[in-house]
Amino acid sequence: ASILVLHGPNLNLLGTREPGVYGSTTLADIDAQLQLIAKTNGHHLQSMQSNAEYELIERIHLARPEGINFIIFNPAAFTHTSIALRDALLAVDIPFIEVHLSNVHARDSFRHHSYFSDIARGVICGLGAQGYQFALQAAMDQLNQ
Ligand code: DQA
Repeated sequence: ASILVLHGPNLNLLGTREPGVYGSTTLADIDAQLQLIAKTNGHHLQSMQSNAEYELIERIHLARPEGINFIIFNPAAFTHTSIALRDALLAVDIPFIEVHLSNVHARDSFRHHSYFSDIARGVICGLGAQGYQFALQAAMDQLNQ
C-alpha cells in the first residue's frame, strides 16, 4: 500500500531545534528509518515537510487522486491552530495517525488542544522519533487487515 508521512512547520530543524524537547534525531534520519521499515514490509512510503499551511493542504488534496491509503501526520504548531488542515483530512477521507515527538500534555496549556485528535485513528505523543515508527507499524497492521 501507499503511505504518506507529513511533517509540519519547524520540523526541518529537528536535530538542532530544542534537543532537550525534541531529541537529536534529524528529520532525514526519521524519514530514512520509516522508508526502510515500509519497504521491508512491502509498502511504499513517501514523506514531505513544509512550513506552509497551504502546501500541506495541497499535499493532502493530492493524496486522494494519488491513491494514498494512509497518512502519518505531525502537524507541529498547526496542531493547535489549523481548522483548514483538519478540513482537508476530512475532505479526502484518508485514515491518519497523529504523531508528536514531545508529550504535548506535559507542556504549555495551548498545546493541550488538537484540531486532529478526535478525527485521527490514533494519537502518539511523548515517545520521540520512535513514535513515528510505532505509528507506521500500526498503519501497516491496519492496512494488512
Ligand atoms: C510537536 C508539538 C507541537 O506543540 C509543536 O508546536 C511542534 C512539534 C511535537 O512533535 O512534539 O512543533 O508537534
